[in-house]
Amino acid sequence: MTEPARIGILISGRGSNMVALADAVRDGRIPNAEISVVISDQPDARGLVKARDRSIETLVIERSGRSREEHDREIVAALRNRQVDLVCLAGYMRVLSGEFLKAFPRRILNIHPSLLPSFPGLEAQKQALEHGAKVSGCTVHFVDETLDGGPVIVQRVVPVLDDDTVESLSVRILAEEHHLYPEAVAMVLSNNLQE
Ligand code: GRF
Repeated sequence: MTEPARIGILISGRGSNMVALADAVRDGRIPNAEISVVISDQPDARGLVKARDRSIETLVIERSGRSREEHDREIVAALRNRQVDLVCLAGYMRVLSGEFLKAFPRRILNIHPSLLPSFPGLEAQKQALEHGAKVSGCTVHFVDETLDGGPVIVQRVVPVLDDDTVESLSVRILAEEHHLYPEAVAMVLSNNLQE
């Protein structure tokens, strides 16, 4: 049995995908892994309380007027101190610097609420509705220097209904995100990290 893979999760807000990952680790749906730390750039992120309730270590690392590189350096140092193998962005509202990407090559994942490459960036569900898309969904992808543009790992399709609002579509997509992210992490860990 190899050592459990150490996962670090970055959040900025609600943290429901972080909870989905933590619950999947606890239930063994992400086998042989642990959540080492949850880091937020926002001190009032609601996900911090949810992580602490699950006895997961939390850190707040604010940007505080620093350059992106300086901010990322502190986050990378915290992840390295905890020997994190895989970094999961879960509603983390910042673009990572090249230095951060280099520190964890092909070891940073993100989840996005659309079928990328359609509708990258903010308000993906609103974009889908405004374009009249008949299906949308969610994507887990490797993070690279582009905005939501790294290689796709897995996707799940969600129907867009005629009477959908941004809210109702977001709820339907989020329910799928909570299944998809743990599946993707389990897949990446079994394929890439334990060879
Ligand atoms: C999710 O819709 C995720 O796809 C996007 O940001 C949202 C975060 O939600 N990147 P939560 O903080 O995980 O609840």
